Amino acid sequence: MEFLSDKPLLITDTILRDAHQSQAATRMTIEDMLPALEVLDSIGYYSLECWGGATFDACMRFLDEDPWQRLRTLRAHLPHTKLQMLFRGQNILGYKHYADDVVDMFCAKSIENGIDIIRIFDALNDIRNLEQAIKSTKKYGGSVEATLSYTISPIHNEDYFVDLAKQLEQMGADTICIKDMANLLLPMDAYSLVKRLKETVGIPIHLHTHNTTGTGDMVNLMAAYAGVDIVDTALSPLANGTSQPATESLVATLKGTPRDTGLDLNKMSKAAAHFRKVAQRLKDAGALDPKVLNVDTNTLLYQVPGGMLSNLISQLKQAGKEDKYYDVLAEIPRVREDFGYPPLVTPSSQIVGTQAVMNIVTGERYKMIPKESRAMLKGEYGKLPGKVNEEVRAKAGIKPEEVITCRPADLLEPELPKYSAEYADIAQSTEDILSLALFPQVAPNFIKKRNLKTPPVPRTIEPLEHREQERSVAPISRG
Ligand code: CO
Repeated sequence: MEFLSDKPLLITDTILRDAHQSQAATRMTIEDMLPALEVLDSIGYYSLECWGGATFDACMRFLDEDPWQRLRTLRAHLPHTKLQMLFRGQNILGYKHYADDVVDMFCAKSIENGIDIIRIFDALNDIRNLEQAIKSTKKYGGSVEATLSYTISPIHNEDYFVDLAKQLEQMGADTICIKDMANLLLPMDAYSLVKRLKETVGIPIHLHTHNTTGTGDMVNLMAAYAGVDIVDTALSPLANGTSQPATESLVATLKGTPRDTGLDLNKMSKAAAHFRKVAQRLKDAGALDPKVLNVDTNTLLYQVPGGMLSNLISQLKQAGKEDKYYDVLAEIPRVREDFGYPPLVTPSSQIVGTQAVMNIVTGERYKMIPKESRAMLKGEYGKLPGKVNEEVRAKAGIKPEEVITCRPADLLEPELPKYSAEYADIAQSTEDILSLALFPQVAPNFIKKRNLKTPPVPRTIEPLEHREQERSVAPISRG
């Protein structure tokens, strides 16, 4: 078999973000990271994924860490490597739609505090939900990695994703990410999709998969054959299972081939020696259940992400209906069809899963419709990919004229002035206001506690109009 590219394969290591988010409930602390940063910085990765996703919330909720301070510390100790974050479009890092001024300020501050590359995705692949984040990332000198949330359905075929990638390239993306969060993308399909993308878009393709179903290494290898530019892997101590395939294994596999990464396994071994201790600490603390390392083939059978299956089991247990597990599994694709085939990723996975459980447990389909289902059917999360079942929409009490067809954030007034006023007594910086706006249940307590511990600092809240004009940030040339 021949490689369709002769360029070295570039590697993003996820050890500082997705690896511990997927395996250990995002509980790695900055103290766990610090001793390894110098060696990580010397390896020559394309980037280190280290921020965003669930890390922001987990820092404040569980680790008593200021997420912004974590980012500044990482930046200071990783001077030669690009830092990458995960960003959920108009939801930023939260679970609702924020107004454009909040999205804009979050991009500005992420880049100012050290982020180079922002991977921007939307659960429904509604590109209108990516517009503002793409615009703002570019405006402040960051690199835009626009994302295809990968899924399988009658409408999510190769043509769909190739077409989506073309649109994202036109919107100004610097790279395209194939985000296979559930490890649904099979190796041969990865080959074919990457090959098509390389033939149709001019910007680099970055593949993100997991090893939940045990195919991750093969997916990465076949993508490497097809000419993928960059792949995500995790250093071995927190690799595999629900996390990414191991970095070292792929680096060794490609040695001496046209796609040799050129990365030094000895340096990785040094970093891995440190993270083995961290993984052990996380196991001892109960944050890492070795069960996550098992291969879960149910996803291959039912095309339902692994995390969603464990949620279903616990919902059914609560209702005392564990015997209905397979009925619910069969109901999920029907609900998904009724809802216009949303990809199953946060938050749509929970919404579809819960609706399927209710349809079975109550013994009548759509007898009960939770408000999240109603919001999704109404278009509050964005445009659903396929046709929605109008009978179901009517059962949810939504009239055709009530369906939102514009970009949902167009209905939102600027929110920063409101948040600034609301949190004037505790916020010490614009970064604090953003933390408070995104996590109103968690951030106030965290910030109050932090303010007591640290001596008062001069307040650094910038006038909001400051951001109205384009800032002249020099393009970043790290690494
Ligand atoms: Co992931």
